[in-house]
Amino acid sequence: MTDWNAKNPYTSKLTENYVLNGKGSGKETRHIVFDLGDSGLEYKAGDALGVIPICPPEIVADLLSLGGFTGEEQVETNLGICSLHEALSTRYEVHRVSKKWIEGLGSRVVSGDGPIEIKIVSRDRVSTSDGSTVMSWNGSGNEDDLPSGYSEIISPNDPAEELWNKLTSDPKSMEDYMWTRDYVDTLRDFSNISFTPQEFIDGMDRLKPRLYSIASSPEFEPGTVHLTVGIVRYSYHERDKAGLTTGYLSDRCIVEETPIGVFMSPTRSFILPEKGDVDCIMVGPGTGIAPFRAFLQQRDLNGDSGRNWLFFGDWTEEGEYYYKEEMDDWKDRGILNKHDLAWSRDGSEKVYVQHLMRENGSEIWDWIHGGGYFYVCGDKSRMAKDVHQTLIDICSEHGEMSQEDAKSFVEESMMKKEKRYLRDVY
Ligand SMILES: Cc1cc2nc3c(=O)[nH]c(=O)nc-3n(C[C@H](O)[C@H](O)[C@H](O)COP(=O)(O)OP(=O)(O)OC[C@H]3O[C@@H](n4cnc5c(N)ncnc54)[C@H](O)[C@@H]3O)c2cc1C
Ligand SMILES: NC(=O)c1ccc[n+]([C@@H]2O[C@H](COP(=O)([O-])OP(=O)(O)OC[C@H]3O[C@@H](n4cnc5c(N)ncnc54)[C@H](OP(=O)(O)O)[C@@H]3O)[C@@H](O)[C@H]2O)c1
Repeated sequence: MTDWNAKNPYTSKLTENYVLNGKGSGKETRHIVFDLGDSGLEYKAGDALGVIPICPPEIVADLLSLGGFTGEEQVETNLGICSLHEALSTRYEVHRVSKKWIEGLGSRVVSGDGPIEIKIVSRDRVSTSDGSTVMSWNGSGNEDDLPSGYSEIISPNDPAEELWNKLTSDPKSMEDYMWTRDYVDTLRDFSNISFTPQEFIDGMDRLKPRLYSIASSPEFEPGTVHLTVGIVRYSYHERDKAGLTTGYLSDRCIVEETPIGVFMSPTRSFILPEKGDVDCIMVGPGTGIAPFRAFLQQRDLNGDSGRNWLFFGDWTEEGEYYYKEEMDDWKDRGILNKHDLAWSRDGSEKVYVQHLMRENGSEIWDWIHGGGYFYVCGDKSRMAKDVHQTLIDICSEHGEMSQEDAKSFVEESMMKKEKRYLRDVY
């Protein structure tokens, strides 16, 4: 059987691709189904699917035009020689300007006035207490705290010079600049710089596949893989932009038509309990619902006697109650024993999954004390951290442990030794 992987992906097609949101929703979350055809690909509930995106053709065309290239020029890439068009379409991420590439610009802006130093420091995304994501900077900004090979030159009275001066005088503005621009924006800003085709791609980030938690059980949905994908869209500098892979899946992959490279990314840890009589608590707001749809399908098929408790939520009940009918059916049939829904934008106060966990602390403790599994899937930076702390607080309060003992119980016993606190967060 062929060993499909990231370097040798199976070429699949979509059989379904539709928006899960209700009318008026501010989100675009899609249910996307891939056909496994005669690939022989196998998976289990809990696994992820790797998807290989193709860059937006309009960005590739704009880049070729701005660089003055035909696209036929040959370039050397990590995967061997290919045409510039091929490289920009399938081998590099052209939708976000890379730090390395923009750092390289410094040496290409020519000055008559002596060198101007360029400082670029590393960036991190950081969550704030109000839930927003901001950029923070590392690096002192001192003269001797430059990445190697920096110290370049700009010509006076050139608009590019002014911009470059601004960017290099304040690390935060460089970071902000890079966060909101792709290569088209940057080439327009620095239109005086010319490149060879090879110089053009050197320093661009290599194109990477993206992983998606599978939202189906292979036995429940034979021959297919289902995903729940949150489409990333934003607009900057009067241009609408999209996440590389989510934009590709949403806007350019036509059902039964577009060939799409995929591969399996099996999990060894995010799995159902071996025994069917074990209780499962699942916390999966937003797209975090995906693997729990797969788990519920699998447990339904298995006829498992263990109870299932799902904590789900998103902005509004009307707009984001994904898979409502399926959940209702599982509730009616006694498969989904408890179902708590946290709508963060339906009322005057935010309701998050961890608030509902706290309200149900005593019962959660009973399930856990009785050997139940505890699963979390979805946003890593905020939700998973808060759910983690809430779980510790619940164990402390209802299991009558000190905070320290509860932390050790959750992180050492449940997570590491017994492997019944499992997370799939991103
Ligand atoms: C194990 C695993 C499982 C996952 N499962 C799922 C899943 O089930 N469903 C799902 O939807 N995702 C899932 N993801 C996330 C997924 O892999 C991708 O990261 C996600 O879909 C975004 O990919 P993209 O190529 O569309 O976006 P990219 O182009 O890679 O963009 C990445 C991020 O940068 C942000 N961004 C970039 N530039 C800007 C800007 N200027 N302004 C604002 N934001 C900006 C975007 O919001 C986006 O979140 C999972 C990830 C992992 C690791
Ligand atoms: N790594 C990546 O490349 C990547 C790509 C795509 C998405 N993501 C992450 O994955 C997440 C998935 O996006 P999504 O659309 O599925 O849903 P989401 O943004 O996680 O939102 C789902 C629900 O969680 C709520 N929420 C916000 N902060 C929370 C917190 N601290 N604790 C508990 N709940 C909280 C949201 O409320 P409010 O919004 O009303 O506050 C919303 O009701 C995103 O948040 C994003 O950070 C990562």
